[in-house]
Amino acid sequence: MQTSVIILAAGLGKRMFSSLPKVLVSLCGRPMLFNILDRVSESSPGARVAIVVGHQKELLIEQVKAQKYKNLEIEFIHQAEQKGTGHAVRCAMESEWGKLAVANKENVLVLPGDLPLMTKELILEMSEPLKRGSALKLLTAILPDPQGYGRIIRKSKKGPVLRIVEEKDANAREKLIQEVGLSIYTFQAQFLMNGVAALKNTNAQKEYYLTDLIEMAARKKRTIETLTWECPEDVRGVNNPYELSQASGTLNARIVKAHAMSGVRIVDLNSVRIEPAVRIAPDVTIYPGAMLEGNTVIEAGSVIGANVILKNVKVGARSELKAGTYAEDSIIGADCKLGPYAHLRPESVIGDHTKIGNFVELKKTKIGEHTSVAHLSYLGDAEVGSRVNIGCGFVTCNFDGRVIDGQRKHKTIIEDDVFVGSDCQTVAPLTLKKGSFIASGSTITQSVEEDTLAIARSRQVNKIGYAKKLK
Ligand code: UD1
Ligand code: CA
Repeated sequence: MQTSVIILAAGLGKRMFSSLPKVLVSLCGRPMLFNILDRVSESSPGARVAIVVGHQKELLIEQVKAQKYKNLEIEFIHQAEQKGTGHAVRCAMESEWGKLAVANKENVLVLPGDLPLMTKELILEMSEPLKRGSALKLLTAILPDPQGYGRIIRKSKKGPVLRIVEEKDANAREKLIQEVGLSIYTFQAQFLMNGVAALKNTNAQKEYYLTDLIEMAARKKRTIETLTWECPEDVRGVNNPYELSQASGTLNARIVKAHAMSGVRIVDLNSVRIEPAVRIAPDVTIYPGAMLEGNTVIEAGSVIGANVILKNVKVGARSELKAGTYAEDSIIGADCKLGPYAHLRPESVIGDHTKIGNFVELKKTKIGEHTSVAHLSYLGDAEVGSRVNIGCGFVTCNFDGRVIDGQRKHKTIIEDDVFVGSDCQTVAPLTLKKGSFIASGSTITQSVEEDTLAIARSRQVNKIGYAKKLK
């Protein structure tokens, strides 16, 4: 029997204080909703998924579509007004999507959009066929601090479930109950359809509570299966920035552990942040404070120093990035040495065996192999060849304050085997041709021919004995 999935994602999430709807708030670099969709896609390929949307639905739909979940049949259901979780499910069940679920006698798995740490195993267990005659299966957990969650009221300690009472409607005794509902259920479609249609909003929040379906099933003497999830970390809700930080810590710890288990040496498990899409080969060492984000890829044998930040960066094999290096949208070759404190702005490409030293900033700059830019330089909109040596304090002056044909910046080309002495500037556009040599302290304003020495500085005058007069 097929299980279809409803994901509740229409709420604003007032308690989150974000301009985004809660399910789009970023958790380890991606909207938290994507974690849930990832797990559904892994556990239930081919599933029909209804995402109930409301707040900023256009943005949400656009972002989900951009993720291209090819093995899920996703439909968006509009909940115009957020009248509660029961009302959200009612919108889905009364749509063509829900009618099909009833006609096909499907089981419907309901997932809240704000439990981003649920695992594939959890979804697989919840998707097992319901027993004959069961109205639903309910997921619960026992939490040391159940505050904010709906409490499970049972007939006796381990007896059948009678109902769920929301925190805001609970009395003092009920609030002591540590067994909570998580907004994860599998319903028999027909029961769900009838149930949500019959909901009333006579409660503290004047909302239509999905949780009221439990009492409905119990009163009708229908079987309520329960599954108690043993790992509370997997089912923590994210309702405010504090819970978001907690979830981010948990997710990061999972990611870091997985890398450590597969051969990455992480010096301090607690201080490294690694986003889910990052790929790291075995035999890479990562020092404390490193942050690896986006689609970063690190090849074998590389060393990522303390406080290095990489966003969408490819690092070739055996390269060493020393402390404080910051790079984004760039490619670093194999056997390179960067930093400490190198800064690679977008579209920087560095060939193998190249050195980019401390306080060197690159922007839209391509550098060949075996080249060295070792200290205190800025290269922007430049193409630098192989075996080039750039001394300390070099600047490509790429912007003259004018915009010509839509171009703001001018290009600098430095061909193979060029030597640039310390403290030089080149005023773009120009080319330093193959093998040319620029004397220290030069401000170069014209291109330099192959194998040519260029000096552009005033001559030194030595006045013998004159120093004494000045003292
Ligand atoms: C809900 C449950 C509570 C449970 C908790 C666990 C109810 C009434 N309460 O409370 O028992 O312990 O989850 O996570 O079900 N949403 C909509 N439309 C709405 C309202 C909510 O789509 O009209 C969505 C939200 O975007 C969110 C999810 O449903 O993703 C849950 O809503 P939320 O307001 O966070 O419910 P809780 O108060 O946490
Ligand atoms: Ca919640």
